[in-house]
Amino acid sequence: MANNLLKGKRGIIFGALNDMSIAWKVAERAHEEGAEFVLTNAPIAMRMGAINDLAEKTGSIVIPADATSVEDLEKLIQEAMDHLGGKIDFILHSIGMSPNVRKKKHYTDINYNYYNQTLDVSAGSLHKILATAQKMDALNEWGSVVALTYIAAQRIFPDYNDMADAKSLLESITRSFGYHYGIKKKVRVNTISQSPTVTTAGQGIKGFDEFINFSEQMSPLGNASAVACADYCISMFSDLTRYVTMQNLFHDGGFSNTGVTQQVIERFGSED
Ligand SMILES: NC(=O)c1ccc[n+]([C@@H]2O[C@H](COP(=O)([O-])OP(=O)(O)OC[C@H]3O[C@@H](n4cnc5c(N)ncnc54)[C@H](O)[C@@H]3O)[C@@H](O)[C@H]2O)c1
Repeated sequence: MANNLLKGKRGIIFGALNDMSIAWKVAERAHEEGAEFVLTNAPIAMRMGAINDLAEKTGSIVIPADATSVEDLEKLIQEAMDHLGGKIDFILHSIGMSPNVRKKKHYTDINYNYYNQTLDVSAGSLHKILATAQKMDALNEWGSVVALTYIAAQRIFPDYNDMADAKSLLESITRSFGYHYGIKKKVRVNTISQSPTVTTAGQGIKGFDEFINFSEQMSPLGNASAVACADYCISMFSDLTRYVTMQNLFHDGGFSNTGVTQQVIERFGSED
């Protein structure tokens, strides 16, 4: 289903770790739609090597960058523009990591050094990417930046832990920077709030398998897949959505507006 929606556009895609990553699917779809882009991930993620396969498949190159390092981001953005031959039209921020989740710390007893890392990697990095791009005047007018988020920013999902705080901050940065970048350069910034999805980051959440089944039954259309999320990202990078900015866009099969479903109610019926 390729329609050349991104023909002539240049991008930077953060966060493809392996073929389950949402960013991986976005890169595949962006390639199908005619975009040229650079792939990037934290230097530590390079060791796994899978991203090089994606680069080969999509005719792109990989430039390592820790998204919390402004120095790395400056280098990445400059090299991306040099390689792609001009300013950037779209950026995908598909980055999330919580040491508290990894170390199974309870939300009420988190380690605050880890907490700062969670916020810096998962949310502050978006501010750093946008601020660096703006200072370098690296984005074309009507450029589009999308970051991936989760509904735990609005509602409590206990096992999502401090990632919920990070996602709230990510969505706030989206609104605030979206305002300033919109006025200055007509660049748009949005978050897509995705259904739970089986990926490396997703599976780090406690009780994830049970939760994904619950979410499936609570969504009139069922959980949205990573490929469907990629499709939505492509539409947000395209010129068909030029006046959408500063939004948190739910891509969740209807979960966010559902109080309860018949399927879930029936699980609580009496035995007789
Ligand atoms: N999987 C889900 O259920 C789900 C649901 C909603 C939103 N999301 C969000 O989607 C995004 C992508 O996650 P995913 O599910 O594809 O998992 P993933 O593990 O494949 O992707 C997370 C990426 O973040 C990268 N990363 C971590 N620290 C980094 C750093 N310092 N600099 C640069 N990159 C760094 C990792 O290397 C990895 O590629 C995340 O923001 C996640 O919170 C995921």
